[in-house]
Amino acid sequence: MQEREAFISGMAALAGGVNVITTGGLENSAGLTATAVCSLSADPPSLIVCVNKEASAHEMLLAERRFAVNVLTGDHRSLALQFAKTSLSAKERFGGASWTTLATGAPVLSGAAAVFDCVLDRVYDGYSHSILIGLVQRTLIQDDPDGSGLVWHGRRFRGLVDLIR
Ligand SMILES: Cc1cc2nc3c(=O)[nH]c(=O)nc-3n(C[C@H](O)[C@H](O)[C@H](O)COP(=O)(O)O)c2cc1C
Repeated sequence: MQEREAFISGMAALAGGVNVITTGGLENSAGLTATAVCSLSADPPSLIVCVNKEASAHEMLLAERRFAVNVLTGDHRSLALQFAKTSLSAKERFGGASWTTLATGAPVLSGAAAVFDCVLDRVYDGYSHSILIGLVQRTLIQDDPDGSGLVWHGRRFRGLVDLIR
């Protein structure tokens, strides 16, 4: 137990970019906030997302076999909280933002720093989590490459700005 707490505290020092993972379509959708997102390969374009098996979106992610990784900006703190809040229904989490689709039909956040629209290719067991491998069908890049990112560090959100511009 002691090691578990030390691990959690140590992980607070590991800064992570904040994303919203969405699945389903525009009508019947689910999603969660996630920092456990990692590039896998450019050949083919693919990425890894780790999702807790208890997360409300987990079942739909595996059933739908499609998801979008919406990379958040510094302006998306409240959206990041919304998608992490257990008390909010799937429908409520999508409120207050504008959503479209790309190739797979998974909800894509207008104004995201980038979006990776994926089909779920493989799922591995990761203890409490499922390790999802997404094959990227389309990548959407925002016009403003200098827009600030959103980072989770020290158990709080921080806007990422380049101070040495
Ligand atoms: C900054 C932040 C990062 C998170 N990263 C992950 C993650 O990578 N994977 C994950 O399964 N849950 C992650 N969570 C937790 C989920 O967003 C969400 O709180 C959890 O799945 C409970 O939601 P539920 O009510 O849909 O079950 C993160 C939460 C926060 C606030």
